Amino acid sequence: MYQNIFDTHAHYDDGRFDADRDQLITSLPQKGVVAVVNAASDLATCHSGLALTEKYPFFYCAVGVHPHEAQGFQPGDLETLAGLAGRPRVVAIGEIGLDYHYDFSPREVQKQVFEAQLRLARDLGLPVIIHDREAHEDTLRLLHRYRPQGILHCFSGSAEMAKEIVELGMYVAFGGAVTFKNARRPLEAAAAVPLDRLLVETDCPYMAPEPLRGRRCDSSMIEFTANQLARVKGLDPQELLDRTCENAKAVYRIEKI
Ligand code: NI
Repeated sequence: MYQNIFDTHAHYDDGRFDADRDQLITSLPQKGVVAVVNAASDLATCHSGLALTEKYPFFYCAVGVHPHEAQGFQPGDLETLAGLAGRPRVVAIGEIGLDYHYDFSPREVQKQVFEAQLRLARDLGLPVIIHDREAHEDTLRLLHRYRPQGILHCFSGSAEMAKEIVELGMYVAFGGAVTFKNARRPLEAAAAVPLDRLLVETDCPYMAPEPLRGRRCDSSMIEFTANQLARVKGLDPQELLDRTCENAKAVYRIEKI
Protein backbone atom coordinates (compact mmCIF):
# COMPACT_ATOMS: atom_id res chain seq x y z
CA MET A 1 0.00 0.00 0.00
CA TYR A 2 1.19 3.50 -0.82
CA GLN A 3 1.70 6.31 1.70
CA ASN A 4 1.74 10.09 1.41
CA ILE A 5 -1.13 10.45 -1.05
CA PHE A 6 -1.98 14.17 -1.19
CA ASP A 7 -5.07 14.67 -3.35
CA THR A 8 -4.67 18.28 -4.45
CA HIS A 9 -8.15 18.58 -6.02
CA ALA A 10 -11.39 16.85 -5.04
CA HIS A 11 -15.13 17.51 -4.77
CA TYR A 12 -16.34 15.50 -1.78
CA ASP A 13 -19.36 17.80 -1.45
CA ASP A 14 -20.71 16.25 -4.69
CA GLY A 15 -24.09 14.49 -4.47
CA ARG A 16 -22.51 11.23 -5.63
CA PHE A 17 -20.97 10.92 -2.15
CA ASP A 18 -24.22 11.55 -0.26
CA ALA A 19 -24.96 7.91 0.50
CA ASP A 20 -21.62 7.02 2.13
CA ARG A 21 -19.57 10.23 2.43
CA ASP A 22 -18.54 9.86 6.06
CA GLN A 23 -17.71 6.17 5.75
CA LEU A 24 -15.64 6.77 2.62
CA ILE A 25 -13.74 9.81 3.94
CA THR A 26 -12.91 8.19 7.27
CA SER A 27 -11.52 5.17 5.38
CA LEU A 28 -9.08 7.27 3.33
CA PRO A 29 -6.23 7.58 5.88
CA GLN A 30 -6.05 3.78 6.10
CA LYS A 31 -5.50 3.79 2.33
CA GLY A 32 -2.49 6.12 2.53
CA VAL A 33 -4.28 9.43 1.96
CA VAL A 34 -2.67 12.11 4.15
CA ALA A 35 -4.37 15.26 2.82
CA VAL A 36 -7.20 16.36 0.52
CA VAL A 37 -8.02 19.82 -0.84
CA ASN A 38 -11.70 20.19 -1.63
CA ALA A 39 -12.23 22.66 -4.49
CA ALA A 40 -15.32 24.86 -4.67
CA SER A 41 -17.52 25.63 -7.68
CA ASP A 42 -19.76 28.34 -6.23
CA LEU A 43 -20.57 29.95 -2.88
CA ALA A 44 -22.66 26.98 -1.74
CA THR A 45 -19.79 24.54 -2.32
CA CYS A 46 -17.37 26.95 -0.58
CA HIS A 47 -19.49 26.41 2.53
CA SER A 48 -19.69 22.64 2.06
CA GLY A 49 -15.91 22.51 1.62
CA LEU A 50 -15.44 24.48 4.84
CA ALA A 51 -17.79 22.09 6.64
CA LEU A 52 -15.63 19.14 5.48
CA THR A 53 -12.50 20.82 6.87
CA GLU A 54 -14.23 21.24 10.23
CA LYS A 55 -15.13 17.56 10.34
CA TYR A 56 -11.98 15.90 8.98
CA PRO A 57 -8.55 17.00 10.20
CA PHE A 58 -6.76 15.99 6.98
CA PHE A 59 -9.08 18.11 4.82
CA TYR A 60 -8.31 21.59 3.45
CA CYS A 61 -10.37 23.59 1.00
CA ALA A 62 -10.30 26.23 -1.70
CA VAL A 63 -12.97 28.90 -2.16
CA GLY A 64 -13.94 30.33 -5.53
CA VAL A 65 -16.40 30.37 -8.40
CA HIS A 66 -15.95 27.96 -11.34
CA PRO A 67 -16.34 29.28 -14.91
CA HIS A 68 -19.51 27.17 -15.30
CA GLU A 69 -21.08 29.24 -12.52
CA ALA A 70 -19.66 32.60 -13.61
CA GLN A 71 -23.00 33.79 -14.93
CA GLY A 72 -24.50 33.72 -11.43
CA PHE A 73 -21.67 35.80 -9.94
CA GLN A 74 -22.86 38.95 -8.15
CA PRO A 75 -20.66 41.97 -7.36
CA GLY A 76 -21.01 41.34 -3.60
CA ASP A 77 -19.75 37.76 -4.02
CA LEU A 78 -16.16 38.95 -4.16
CA GLU A 79 -16.40 40.32 -0.63
CA THR A 80 -18.07 37.14 0.54
CA LEU A 81 -15.22 35.13 -0.98
CA ALA A 82 -12.65 37.37 0.69
CA GLY A 83 -14.31 36.71 4.05
CA LEU A 84 -14.42 32.94 3.47
CA ALA A 85 -10.78 32.93 2.34
CA GLY A 86 -9.75 34.13 5.78
CA ARG A 87 -11.19 31.07 7.50
CA PRO A 88 -8.83 28.42 8.88
CA ARG A 89 -7.76 25.63 6.48
CA VAL A 90 -8.63 27.62 3.34
CA VAL A 91 -5.48 27.18 1.25
CA ALA A 92 -6.36 28.64 -2.17
CA ILE A 93 -8.80 30.51 -4.39
CA GLY A 94 -10.38 27.94 -6.70
CA GLU A 95 -11.39 26.54 -8.81
CA ILE A 96 -11.43 29.50 -11.14
CA GLY A 97 -10.72 29.84 -14.84
CA LEU A 98 -12.20 29.42 -18.30
CA ASP A 99 -14.18 26.61 -19.92
CA TYR A 100 -14.76 27.05 -23.66
CA HIS A 101 -15.72 23.40 -24.10
CA TYR A 102 -19.10 23.65 -22.37
CA ASP A 103 -19.51 27.46 -22.52
CA PHE A 104 -22.09 27.28 -19.69
CA SER A 105 -21.43 30.98 -19.04
CA PRO A 106 -20.74 33.54 -21.80
CA ARG A 107 -16.99 33.85 -22.42
CA GLU A 108 -16.89 37.55 -21.60
CA VAL A 109 -18.53 36.86 -18.24
CA GLN A 110 -16.14 33.95 -17.58
CA LYS A 111 -13.18 36.24 -18.21
CA GLN A 112 -14.51 39.00 -15.95
CA VAL A 113 -15.17 36.61 -13.06
CA PHE A 114 -11.80 34.88 -13.56
CA GLU A 115 -9.95 38.20 -13.54
CA ALA A 116 -11.81 39.45 -10.47
CA GLN A 117 -10.75 36.30 -8.61
CA LEU A 118 -7.15 36.52 -9.85
CA ARG A 119 -7.03 40.02 -8.38
CA LEU A 120 -8.60 38.77 -5.16
CA ALA A 121 -5.98 36.02 -4.82
CA ARG A 122 -3.25 38.58 -5.45
CA ASP A 123 -4.69 40.96 -2.84
CA LEU A 124 -4.99 38.16 -0.29
CA GLY A 125 -1.62 36.61 -1.14
CA LEU A 126 -3.20 33.20 -1.80
CA PRO A 127 -2.42 30.64 -4.52
CA VAL A 128 -5.05 29.82 -7.18
CA ILE A 129 -6.40 26.57 -8.64
CA ILE A 130 -6.97 27.11 -12.36
CA HIS A 131 -9.49 25.25 -14.54
CA ASP A 132 -8.69 25.63 -18.25
CA ARG A 133 -10.67 23.65 -20.77
CA GLU A 134 -10.13 24.50 -24.44
CA ALA A 135 -9.23 28.04 -23.39
CA HIS A 136 -5.43 27.80 -23.36
CA GLU A 137 -4.73 31.05 -25.18
CA ASP A 138 -6.88 33.29 -22.96
CA THR A 139 -5.78 31.42 -19.83
CA LEU A 140 -2.10 31.96 -20.63
CA ARG A 141 -2.67 35.61 -21.46
CA LEU A 142 -4.34 36.24 -18.10
CA LEU A 143 -1.73 34.22 -16.19
CA HIS A 144 0.98 36.37 -17.76
CA ARG A 145 -0.94 39.50 -16.82
CA TYR A 146 -1.67 38.61 -13.17
CA ARG A 147 1.24 36.27 -12.41
CA PRO A 148 -0.55 34.26 -9.72
CA GLN A 149 1.05 31.53 -7.70
CA GLY A 150 -0.72 28.20 -7.77
CA ILE A 151 -1.80 25.24 -9.85
CA LEU A 152 -2.97 24.47 -13.37
CA HIS A 153 -5.37 21.65 -12.51
CA CYS A 154 -6.34 18.65 -14.67
CA PHE A 155 -3.76 19.81 -17.17
CA SER A 156 -4.87 19.26 -20.77
CA GLY A 157 -2.42 21.42 -22.70
CA SER A 158 0.68 20.59 -24.70
CA ALA A 159 4.19 19.96 -23.39
CA GLU A 160 5.04 23.47 -24.63
CA MET A 161 2.27 24.99 -22.56
CA ALA A 162 3.31 22.95 -19.52
CA LYS A 163 6.81 24.44 -19.83
CA GLU A 164 5.31 27.92 -20.02
CA ILE A 165 3.26 27.32 -16.86
CA VAL A 166 6.41 26.15 -15.06
CA GLU A 167 8.28 29.24 -16.26
CA LEU A 168 5.50 31.35 -14.75
CA GLY A 169 6.36 29.73 -11.42
CA MET A 170 3.24 27.59 -11.20
CA TYR A 171 2.63 23.90 -10.51
CA VAL A 172 0.96 21.44 -12.91
CA ALA A 173 -1.49 18.80 -11.65
CA PHE A 174 -2.41 15.56 -13.41
CA GLY A 175 -5.29 13.22 -12.68
CA GLY A 176 -6.87 10.04 -14.01
CA ALA A 177 -6.65 11.21 -17.64
CA VAL A 178 -2.97 10.22 -17.79
CA THR A 179 -4.05 6.56 -17.46
CA PHE A 180 -6.54 6.66 -20.35
CA LYS A 181 -5.74 4.85 -23.60
CA ASN A 182 -5.49 8.10 -25.59
CA ALA A 183 -3.18 9.72 -23.02
CA ARG A 184 -0.21 10.45 -25.27
CA ARG A 185 -0.57 14.24 -24.97
CA PRO A 186 -0.94 14.51 -21.16
CA LEU A 187 1.94 12.08 -20.73
CA GLU A 188 4.15 14.24 -22.96
CA ALA A 189 3.12 17.24 -20.86
CA ALA A 190 3.88 15.39 -17.62
CA ALA A 191 7.30 14.46 -18.97
CA ALA A 192 7.98 18.16 -19.57
CA VAL A 193 7.13 19.21 -15.99
CA PRO A 194 10.09 19.11 -13.58
CA LEU A 195 9.55 16.82 -10.61
CA ASP A 196 9.49 19.75 -8.19
CA ARG A 197 6.45 21.27 -9.97
CA LEU A 198 4.38 18.13 -10.43
CA LEU A 199 1.16 17.36 -8.49
CA VAL A 200 -1.35 14.51 -8.42
CA GLU A 201 -5.11 14.90 -8.03
CA THR A 202 -8.37 13.07 -8.61
CA ASP A 203 -11.04 15.73 -9.38
CA CYS A 204 -13.25 13.06 -7.77
CA PRO A 205 -16.02 11.97 -8.16
CA TYR A 206 -15.02 12.49 -11.82
CA MET A 207 -12.12 11.14 -13.84
CA ALA A 208 -11.54 7.72 -12.24
CA PRO A 209 -8.29 6.32 -13.64
CA GLU A 210 -7.95 3.09 -15.61
CA PRO A 211 -8.66 0.29 -14.75
CA LEU A 212 -11.55 1.90 -12.82
CA ARG A 213 -12.59 4.40 -15.51
CA GLY A 214 -16.32 5.19 -15.35
CA ARG A 215 -16.63 4.34 -11.66
CA ARG A 216 -17.08 6.97 -8.97
CA CYS A 217 -13.59 8.20 -8.20
CA ASP A 218 -12.07 8.79 -4.76
CA SER A 219 -8.63 9.80 -3.48
CA SER A 220 -7.38 6.24 -2.93
CA MET A 221 -7.49 5.71 -6.72
CA ILE A 222 -4.56 8.10 -7.12
CA GLU A 223 -2.33 5.03 -6.94
CA PHE A 224 -3.09 4.26 -10.61
CA THR A 225 -2.30 7.84 -11.65
CA ALA A 226 0.90 7.73 -9.58
CA ASN A 227 1.95 4.44 -11.22
CA GLN A 228 1.59 5.99 -14.66
CA LEU A 229 3.39 9.24 -13.78
CA ALA A 230 6.15 7.28 -12.04
CA ARG A 231 6.74 5.35 -15.28
CA VAL A 232 7.06 8.61 -17.20
CA LYS A 233 9.50 9.99 -14.62
CA GLY A 234 11.46 6.75 -14.20
CA LEU A 235 10.72 6.68 -10.46
CA ASP A 236 9.34 4.30 -7.93
CA PRO A 237 5.61 5.21 -7.45
CA GLN A 238 6.10 5.77 -3.73
CA GLU A 239 8.91 8.19 -4.44
CA LEU A 240 6.65 10.03 -6.87
CA LEU A 241 3.96 10.27 -4.18
CA ASP A 242 6.50 11.46 -1.60
CA ARG A 243 7.78 14.18 -3.92
CA THR A 244 4.34 15.34 -5.07
CA CYS A 245 3.19 15.44 -1.43
CA GLU A 246 6.05 17.81 -0.62
CA ASN A 247 5.14 19.92 -3.66
CA ALA A 248 1.51 20.10 -2.54
CA LYS A 249 2.54 21.25 0.91
CA ALA A 250 4.74 23.92 -0.69
CA VAL A 251 2.12 25.31 -3.07
CA TYR A 252 -0.65 25.30 -0.45
CA ARG A 253 1.77 26.50 2.25
CA ILE A 254 0.97 23.73 4.67
CA GLU A 255 3.87 23.24 7.02
CA LYS A 256 2.90 20.00 8.62
CA ILE A 257 0.24 17.43 7.73
NI1 NI B 1 -12.62 20.22 -10.17
